[in-house]
Amino acid sequence: MGMGKMLEIKDITVQYGNNFPTLEHFGLSMKKGEIVGVVGESGSGKTTVIRAVLGALPGAGKVTSGDILFEGDSLLAYSKEEWRKLRGTAISMIFQDCGGTLNPMRKIGSQFVEYIRTHSQMGKKEAWELGREMLAKMRLPDGENVMNSYPHQLSGGMRQRVGIAIAMTFQPKLLLADEPTSALDVTTQAQIVRQMMELREQNDTGIIIVTHNLGVAAYMSDWLVVMQHGKAVDQGTRDDVLNHPTSEYTRSLLDAVPEMEGMRFVS
Ligand SMILES: Nc1ncnc2c1ncn2[C@@H]1O[C@H](COP(=O)(O)OP(=O)(O)OP(=O)(O)O)[C@@H](O)[C@H]1O
Ligand SMILES: [Mg+2]
Repeated sequence: MGMGKMLEIKDITVQYGNNFPTLEHFGLSMKKGEIVGVVGESGSGKTTVIRAVLGALPGAGKVTSGDILFEGDSLLAYSKEEWRKLRGTAISMIFQDCGGTLNPMRKIGSQFVEYIRTHSQMGKKEAWELGREMLAKMRLPDGENVMNSYPHQLSGGMRQRVGIAIAMTFQPKLLLADEPTSALDVTTQAQIVRQMMELREQNDTGIIIVTHNLGVAAYMSDWLVVMQHGKAVDQGTRDDVLNHPTSEYTRSLLDAVPEMEGMRFVS
């Protein structure tokens, strides 16, 4: 069973308060180093899936049935202390335009150093060096300058690279990315997509990328999940879903994706 499985979402239901389920009978099984793309319309439950995995459902959100296993352990049984150790290290997350990660009032360097020191015993100087090294890995030229900048002084693409650099600091086994490229222009979007794929090549990082952009998901992913109204209406290997979609909804999404350079890639 669990052999090679890094993450197993087993038939979960998620409810916010007493409302009817937002997510119903949702399952996903993911191997180390795999890239999973989750697509679907607004409100279909994409963010809910990754927040459930991160143990960070907003408001009254709760997994009311099923289980989520990470390397064989139930995340639903994790204590606050266990989560504190796991989140930001083995499992980390990046958001759209880093809105959820970066504080606009503080310089990148001080935020990066604080993040590193929350998750390690490192001294300030050492943490600063590691931060700069991570920025260089994300191909941000002049890391020192970036460290000394406020978020608004950077372009959207640079901010997103900073967010990914921070999230990759402790070489997570699983990176959860919620619309990481949606706020970016097409060229920058393509660069970030390629860099995320390099992370997998270099560190064997498993990635769940949530996007409304089927072209991006199809380009990056080994495994595709198409969601509608809180359910996975199609799920399988990328080729399987693209070539043999079972739902009308997936077919309509595919019809809307233009062909570019022999590759389906939506702007
Ligand atoms: N904090 C919350 N409180 C109550 N209900 C919520 C909350 N967050 C989400 N929901 C419910 O869950 C549904 C799915 O939301 P979710 O954010 O997972 O969708 P999504 O697919 O990520 O949409 P989008 O593409 O717009 O980001 C929403 O339509 C809403 O009914
Ligand atoms: Mg969302």
